[in-house]
Amino acid sequence: MILPIVAYGDPVLRKKAKEITPDYPNLKELIANMKETMYNASGVGLAAPQIGKAIRLFVIDTSPFAEDESLEESDRATLRDFKKVYINAKILEEEGQEWGFNEGCLSIPDVREDVYRQPKVTIEYQDEDFNTHTETLDGLAARVFQHEYDHIEGVLFTDKLSSLKKRLLKRKLDNISKGKINADYRMRFPNLKKGR
Ligand code: NI
Repeated sequence: MILPIVAYGDPVLRKKAKEITPDYPNLKELIANMKETMYNASGVGLAAPQIGKAIRLFVIDTSPFAEDESLEESDRATLRDFKKVYINAKILEEEGQEWGFNEGCLSIPDVREDVYRQPKVTIEYQDEDFNTHTETLDGLAARVFQHEYDHIEGVLFTDKLSSLKKRLLKRKLDNISKGKINADYRMRFPNLKKGR
């Protein structure tokens, strides 16, 4: 089932999300619905707060980046196969010189800005069966992980922009929260004016 994606301005996007346990109700179904919602919106990641649940869960599938011919073939191969469910993820270490990449977010349609992040991240998380894993990601895989991880911490990529950029974007972000935006997927707007 495709779920509506929560738009910028909704308080759920600002909550520090809670850890979950294997008895979380209908978890398999929720994960399946989140994947379907992500694919329907052509996203490469989707975090639970974006469908209105403040829990530490996100899904990633970077395979669309594998089509990007400006990337090295070895990186494209990694991105083609990077499909994961992350539960209760923690960042153990972030390393390296920050690099910029033009990011977007399904909760903030039509806004794309360069965001600077460290290139390498070592993480611990649980998979769908609650087995614990430790892994190190780099490049775009790390980038997508960091973006989704920020969601479960209540952080959005626009928070990481300069104060000038934030000022320039303010009206656009206000409009998104009011539903004055055309997204080609279903959304839920916190400040939608009734009867519009
Ligand atoms: Ni996002």
